Amino acid sequence: MSAPEAGPDPGLDPDRDTAVGPRLRSAGAFDVQVLATLHRAAFEAQPGAEIWGAEALCELLAMPGSLALIVEAGRAPLGFALGRIAAEEAELLTLALRPEARRLGLGRALVDALVARCASLGADKVSLEVAADNRAARKLYAAAGFQQVGRRRGYYLRPRRAVDAVIMLLVPW
Ligand SMILES: CC(C)(COP(=O)(O)OP(=O)(O)OC[C@H]1O[C@@H](n2cnc3c(N)ncnc32)[C@H](O)[C@@H]1OP(=O)(O)O)[C@@H](O)C(=O)NCCC(=O)NCCS
Repeated sequence: MSAPEAGPDPGLDPDRDTAVGPRLRSAGAFDVQVLATLHRAAFEAQPGAEIWGAEALCELLAMPGSLALIVEAGRAPLGFALGRIAAEEAELLTLALRPEARRLGLGRALVDALVARCASLGADKVSLEVAADNRAARKLYAAAGFQQVGRRRGYYLRPRRAVDAVIMLLVPW
């Protein structure tokens, strides 16, 4: 299935979007435009970061074992997490929060909920890769119980230099 690229980002309207507290729900193929907009909003400030468009997200969501959760305030999407389960192993593929919705505990809530969902579906471990210089994400994952188990040298190509990927693993059960 192909999907058109995401439209313009409508941004947050404080009057409209703070009336209802944030809620998590499963996301699916019908959400790809929203997920693409969120991914861009979350990663566009990171030099060299790969931004996933609707087409790429559509393909990821169509893969067997993929699962995504979105957090919204009212009708306003704030962030999402995307993972995948293969056999008993799960992987957190991306985590993206709009800049205006950060430091509210929503990233952590998405990670915890995705991990719980993976466990309920039979996964006995969850892995992820994070750029070594992504201090915010590494702190969040460590606080959620992930431990560093490896490193890929120069994995992320940036405009000025390559950055290592840190491999983290959670064995929560
Ligand atoms: C990383 C990211 C997902 C964090 O989301 P968030 O909703 O702001 O995170 P939370 O509010 O749940 O924070 C949970 C904990 O993570 C750590 N943390 C989060 N952001 C941090 C920051 N900017 N600096 C330091 N620690 C941070 C803190 O320990 C925080 O707990 P605290 O607020 O009680 O101190 C968000 O900054 C983001 O979308 N960044 C851009 C995309 C990205 O890098 N994704 C990860 C790719 S692997």
